[in-house]
Amino acid sequence: MSILKSITQRLEYFRGTLFYIGYTPKAYQYSRKRDAIEKQFPRTPTQEPFPNPGKLLEAKPTPRGAHFFFEKAELQITYLTPDFALVNWLPGEPPVPYAIARHQWPEVDTILEETGQSWTIIPATSEETPNTLKINISLDGSLKYYNKAGQLFRQENPPQSKENGWIHTAPLRKEEHIYGLGERAFPLNLRDPKDGRTQVTYKMWNYDAAGTYGAGSDPMYLCIPVYIGIHQEGSYLIFYENSFEANFTLNENAIADFEGGSLRYYITTGTPQHLIERYTELTGRSPLPPRWALGYHQSHWGYRTEEAVKKEAEDFKKYNLPLSAIHLDIDVQVGFRAFTIDPDRFPKLPEFIKELLDQNVRFIAIMNPGVKYSRESNLFLEGQLLNAFCKLPNGELVSGPVWPGWCVFPDFTKPTVRHWWSRQYEYLLDVGVAGFWHDMNEPAAFILWGDRSLPKPTQHYMEGRGGDHREAHNIYGLMQAKAGYESLRNHRTNLRPFIVSRAGWAGLQRYAWTWTGDIECTWTALKLTISTVTGLGLSGIPYSGPDTGGFQGNPSAELYLRWFQMSTFLPFFRTHSSNNVSHRAPWTYGEPYLTIMRDFLQLRYRLMPYFYTLAWQTSQKGYPLVRPVFWSDPEDPKLWGIDDAFLLGDSLLVCPIVIEGETSRKVTLPKGRWYNFWNDEILESSTQITIDAPLEKIPIFVKEGSIIPMEENNELTLHIYPCSQTTTESFMYSDSGDGYGETRLDIFRMNQNKDQLEITWQQQGGYPFPYNSIRVEFHGMEPHKISLDGSETTPQSKYINCQPFEKLSVIGE
Ligand code: NOJ
Repeated sequence: MSILKSITQRLEYFRGTLFYIGYTPKAYQYSRKRDAIEKQFPRTPTQEPFPNPGKLLEAKPTPRGAHFFFEKAELQITYLTPDFALVNWLPGEPPVPYAIARHQWPEVDTILEETGQSWTIIPATSEETPNTLKINISLDGSLKYYNKAGQLFRQENPPQSKENGWIHTAPLRKEEHIYGLGERAFPLNLRDPKDGRTQVTYKMWNYDAAGTYGAGSDPMYLCIPVYIGIHQEGSYLIFYENSFEANFTLNENAIADFEGGSLRYYITTGTPQHLIERYTELTGRSPLPPRWALGYHQSHWGYRTEEAVKKEAEDFKKYNLPLSAIHLDIDVQVGFRAFTIDPDRFPKLPEFIKELLDQNVRFIAIMNPGVKYSRESNLFLEGQLLNAFCKLPNGELVSGPVWPGWCVFPDFTKPTVRHWWSRQYEYLLDVGVAGFWHDMNEPAAFILWGDRSLPKPTQHYMEGRGGDHREAHNIYGLMQAKAGYESLRNHRTNLRPFIVSRAGWAGLQRYAWTWTGDIECTWTALKLTISTVTGLGLSGIPYSGPDTGGFQGNPSAELYLRWFQMSTFLPFFRTHSSNNVSHRAPWTYGEPYLTIMRDFLQLRYRLMPYFYTLAWQTSQKGYPLVRPVFWSDPEDPKLWGIDDAFLLGDSLLVCPIVIEGETSRKVTLPKGRWYNFWNDEILESSTQITIDAPLEKIPIFVKEGSIIPMEENNELTLHIYPCSQTTTESFMYSDSGDGYGETRLDIFRMNQNKDQLEITWQQQGGYPFPYNSIRVEFHGMEPHKISLDGSETTPQSKYINCQPFEKLSVIGE
């Protein structure tokens, strides 16, 4: 590194650090104040604790399940479908259903049977019902769950009630793997932290990992009390509808220890696909994003002026790098205040945004929920009129230090406040801002010690039923996202909303994407991103991605490149970095890095029809775009622990380089045949193989039977990867890329019959075919003779150019 560069980096770091230090006195004052408030308003117990529910006294069938009366507790079991049940222990105040998107379910008949020392509920279904859930209730309140094949897939001990809350223990099987719990900085299998520990506790409390975090940091910004368990007898999902602070300990048991609320959870069984489908049926699915959002986003905490942003967009053009959006951080604001953009530094904002848009680059504006506590702030005055801000039980405003200084916090659990907040986006939408970046919305406050959020006794409206921050904390970001989403949806009705939110809870997928926050700039962090993004997907959040290259620190050229190559295949592809590090973009490190990153970036854009089809599938089924390797064969235990590779959709297996200096890596291929994406070599499923990965490549494999749609210059290329025997189906979804107009689905069926490969193409929907020309490219075979809707040709190469067809037959080898 040159001396000049090293001096500049030190200066940048020094400036950034000074910036943080400036907040120290306020952080000190706040930490003291918060502690005093928590002392002043101690918590009162809400219930008489008991170590177990006592003996079962009575069981009564109900229309969808049964009601059990124990000596000290009651248990209601309600079936939503034959394989999906709500288990609700009483006493306990029901939650406000913030997570729930679906309230009405078709009828389910159930049979309640007494079976000696226990009772059993069985859904009355026909043979064809693919999945069922049978629940056995013992006289002491322990529960056992069986799937349709009669396999016992989960057991629960009788629950224990605390003064405020519950402890729920479920013994785990030895080989059982656990995934999910929202955003976690741990290996994918949360039961194995890979640091020698046999017990880990994960906290449910959305938390600003402030400045930088690495492997093992907990809690994180977006906690969700949902997990998937997988073992020899099948897999299941459990979602606790309880937003209170909790600790989830995984050892030989899974112990959920809640600081409040009721013990209310949903449980289902089936394949991982089925689990996610059910969970997102309950908590909602991500609507289709605008197509541009699946492109590349560039960001840096440090673009202060119009000139800086303009230069960034121009440089992308200059280096021939595609770009979809630029994210503007707090330094474009006036005093770091929400909904502002400094008019001196952005004097002609609408024209400027239009100029960017003409180059296909969108302007994304950051926004924090904290409102400057000042009579000079209109937002503060308006909010005060509406009684919009969080208060203590004695009516005093709650204030805490964030970037603008002392701030007050809108209570997003109040509909009128959400509505008022929604209206604030309109000015920026009207000048052309394309989307919003919700930051610091755990909500975060600056501290020197203790919790980085609002005092626990802070009051919340909770849709009228009232509650305090212990319950409202984890849903704060979720409800802010709802306000934002509704604003974008209602005010700009012809375009789809785009919001990326740091915090959230179950159901955030309905309103926003997320990113993995202030991740450190290390090789370990690069690898960690795979588990974090995959784990989020298994928690119902399909769109996420990291600050490529890491937030805090200056990555080496190799680290940034390897990170960039991985992010190419993640749903949210953005480079972002802190204010005390050097600006980072694909050209920062010169050649050969620039050329390689350009190739990957162009590959991302060529893969757009594949990504967009996955986004459509997510909107229909809830599946994450990025899936764990075991998704392709959940019955193969050797795939359960893989977290240095991932599937993008069902067809692409991506194996990033996660270790410095490596130019090859080991890969485990799931069952079936896989094509090496780079050279079409066909590989059979195997335990582990070593694959070359020189700097310009990472190993990628395509599953046999796939048709991967790619686009370039208005030409569609259908990449055909023949399968050995079976019939497979592939889809391509298209529409205008934004808005709510006509749509189109192209369905391809591929069938291999001896030496003849047959592809049929069926079209649905009214949107016109969006490409000028088509190229069909065959992988792993030499086509000798092709029949296209009856007319025969002898191809000269591995591809043909054509127009949409109904049937294509290929004879080749
Ligand atoms: C914290 C966020 O995590 C980070 O991405 C952002 O750059 C800073 N806040 C400044 O807004």
